[in-house]
Amino acid sequence: MIKIAVLGYGTVGSGVVEVIERHNSLLSERLREKIAVKYILDLRDFPGDTYEDKIVHDYSTILNDPEISILCEVMGGVGAAYQFTKQALEAGKSVCTSNKELVAKHGAELFAIAERMHCNYMFEASVAGGIPIIRAIGSALSADRVEAVTGILNGTTNYILTKMEKEGADYADVLKQAQELGYAERNPEADVEGLDAGRKIAILADMLTGKNVNPDKVTTEGITKITSADFAYAKAAGMTIKLLARCSVSEDGSVQALVAPFMLPADHALGRVDDVFNGVLVTCTMLGDAMFGGQGAGKLPTASAVAADVMDCAMHPGRTVMRGWSEEEAELADVTETERRFFVRIKASALADVQAAFAGSSLVEAGGGEDSGLFVPAMKEKEFDAKCAALGDAILNRIRVA
Ligand code: HSE
Repeated sequence: MIKIAVLGYGTVGSGVVEVIERHNSLLSERLREKIAVKYILDLRDFPGDTYEDKIVHDYSTILNDPEISILCEVMGGVGAAYQFTKQALEAGKSVCTSNKELVAKHGAELFAIAERMHCNYMFEASVAGGIPIIRAIGSALSADRVEAVTGILNGTTNYILTKMEKEGADYADVLKQAQELGYAERNPEADVEGLDAGRKIAILADMLTGKNVNPDKVTTEGITKITSADFAYAKAAGMTIKLLARCSVSEDGSVQALVAPFMLPADHALGRVDDVFNGVLVTCTMLGDAMFGGQGAGKLPTASAVAADVMDCAMHPGRTVMRGWSEEEAELADVTETERRFFVRIKASALADVQAAFAGSSLVEAGGGEDSGLFVPAMKEKEFDAKCAALGDAILNRIRVA
């Protein structure tokens, strides 16, 4: 019998218990051995809950139980979750997590412990929820060279941008609606400022480079400045606006990581990923492009990914099946050195000045009014920024073009 413990009985934790219980005969059949949740660690009591008898409050009960060989850490945060994970791995117990913050911050150290102790630190659910992108990059594509990953990795912001696009609504109104529906947190900063997507792309960049990419060094721009007027111009140009997280590794080893809103063709593979869905476009040397999509958050999709990690650990006792990355810090290239196109929304009265500053720019007709929209030709971001600074308040917004 394989006995596991779940750390944290919140949304994802209760989902993990549900997946393992509801699919119990399927999982046991695949493992050729019975599997069961023995403990659920939480500070709270759950009187009347079906699994009330499994709740424990003292982590040492789990740590010191030799029957427990696999733990699911779905508590979140980098405090107790970090300590508990480290202690479990040091004891040779595998840990499966959905905690992107912890993986992005301390993953390298935790993988090293897992390898030394011949167990596993598994993190499929930490990026894009239920979409198996970690296994795709870490295992299915292990003979290829992944050159770049571009993704919609945050469901909350994708929901907001989709609503803005479809309903012509303003950011603040859609955010409020998303909060009422439970799609956005009461404090939405981590999502809307791109920090959540930044942690996820840092993890994918870790995998691409084999080194530790500091999530705090990923250039991150959120969606709070996007307006319904920007969407009107995007629509007129046959484009849409998405919060993209992108990392790439060039052949000379230069690493880029960026989270920012991008204008992209409406029929682009990522342009069609709407609502709370996530999408990940992987560009490889041999395979070319491959697109992954699905539910990037939510109780059962995320729990399904955690439970799949549990299955992998259970099938390979005493073996490290997923190697992580080294503790050596990867150096990130300066994104302002990148050459790219921009869309600018400007005061209509400044059109002549802007056209003079950005020779070769093309005007987008979107009904006129007090502002105008233009696509400016490709140039280094730093050069573009300098020109915008010189134009002062003539520039109302600027969005990168993919
Ligand atoms: N807030 C995150 C999102 C949850 O909206 O994608 C999943 O990481």
